[in-house]
Amino acid sequence: MHSLSDRIQGLIDKYTKLYVEKTQKSRELLERARKVLPGGTTYQIRFFLPYPVYILKASGVKVWDVDGNEYVDYWMGHGTHILGHSPDFVVKAVNDAAYSGTHLGYPNTLEVEYAELLTKVIPNVDMVRFSNSGTEANMYAVRLSRAYTGRRYVIKMEGGWHGGYDGLHVGVNPPFEGPESLGLPVEHIKYTIVVPYNDLNALENALKSFDVAAVIMEPVLGSGGCIEPQPGYLKGVRELVDRYGALLIFDEVITGFRLALGGGQELFNVKADIVTLGKIVGGGYPGAGAIASRSEIMELLDQIKRPSARSRSFHGGTFTGNKVTLTAGYTLINYLSQHKSLYEGFNNLWDWVRNELSRACEEHDRICWATGVGSMLGIHFTREKPINVRMAYEGRIDENLYHLAHLYMRTKGILYMTEHMPHLLPSMIHTREHANSLIQEFNNLLSELTAK
Ligand SMILES: Cc1ncc(COP(=O)(O)O)c(C=O)c1O
Repeated sequence: MHSLSDRIQGLIDKYTKLYVEKTQKSRELLERARKVLPGGTTYQIRFFLPYPVYILKASGVKVWDVDGNEYVDYWMGHGTHILGHSPDFVVKAVNDAAYSGTHLGYPNTLEVEYAELLTKVIPNVDMVRFSNSGTEANMYAVRLSRAYTGRRYVIKMEGGWHGGYDGLHVGVNPPFEGPESLGLPVEHIKYTIVVPYNDLNALENALKSFDVAAVIMEPVLGSGGCIEPQPGYLKGVRELVDRYGALLIFDEVITGFRLALGGGQELFNVKADIVTLGKIVGGGYPGAGAIASRSEIMELLDQIKRPSARSRSFHGGTFTGNKVTLTAGYTLINYLSQHKSLYEGFNNLWDWVRNELSRACEEHDRICWATGVGSMLGIHFTREKPINVRMAYEGRIDENLYHLAHLYMRTKGILYMTEHMPHLLPSMIHTREHANSLIQEFNNLLSELTAK
């Protein structure tokens, strides 16, 4: 009788062989890439063992690698492509727009129209400023919250990912202490307090102990494992933040336009003071980011009301409000706002998938859990269902299970991110058939793993 770890290793060997047979060109590309790109990639999370597939093209829900293998994509450009890769009407709108300038560098009608649209679809916000990424949006939002409150500290959640900005690049991965990167001085994170997600006591203790400008959090923990808020948690956060005079920043870079058109605020009916956006807000094009809030806060960015630079909180940048990103974003969000009913079916489908995957886990010795909300789907090979990122890491049955699951799915034509923390961000055009194959393959994997 083999132990579980022997069995996992046996399956890794079996599926590595299959993978290598199918992906020779990717293997060669990694070698070539490593000479000119550190780690052979442009982002370390895109690497997986023994080497990643190099993707040549994408369309709809699919991507194709350099060896001609086809995959159903559950990563979708880091959760950007809510209507699949390259929706025709968005690409056409961008191409048409680009002939009369890609980036005007001046105030333009599109930024006004898009800001008007966003203030209609996102609850509790009057004004918007566009940034170039989610990271940037969070960086400026933190600064804005400090400017507004006159306080210094920021509280973030363990496992919360807000981009690589110094002040928030802490408490993301184990051991959840100290700077997350070389070259990040500890002084740069000394005003950042990290507390566990889904823990109101820890939050209250932190709020009590420091002069906190803002609590920044994803309504549903995203790359920390798609972990959902416990009932009442987000409302509790709102109350505590109010009680201690801080601001609540919802980082809706993933949840925005995904959980509902109005994001986590709408789905959970909890009001944020500042909302940050990224990914979908750019309609699938680069340079996607925005900060949205009510006028009294956004007014701190207003150079007409506050002519002196020192009386303002800074925000700006060369490519902010560029025509390509805004055309794509406007076209996409406008479409979603006219098809709001899509959200119900979308959320129902992925809630159903989560239930099916959970059932598969239960039927296979409870070797795993499926977490998340709607189309944010986390998979955890843990004995207990994680409600925070520490449980998601510390409760792992075997780290190799994560590698095996990713590898196995690749050989079955399914891709998701990441190899170390599976979180699937499907689009609205993934069908029930796609979902069924995912469930089927997951069941097959668990059966191979647990066969007596
Ligand atoms: C919740 C969240 N916030 C912020 C970011 C950073 O956004 P960007 O990669 O566009 O800088 C990400 C990126 O994955 C994210 O998931």
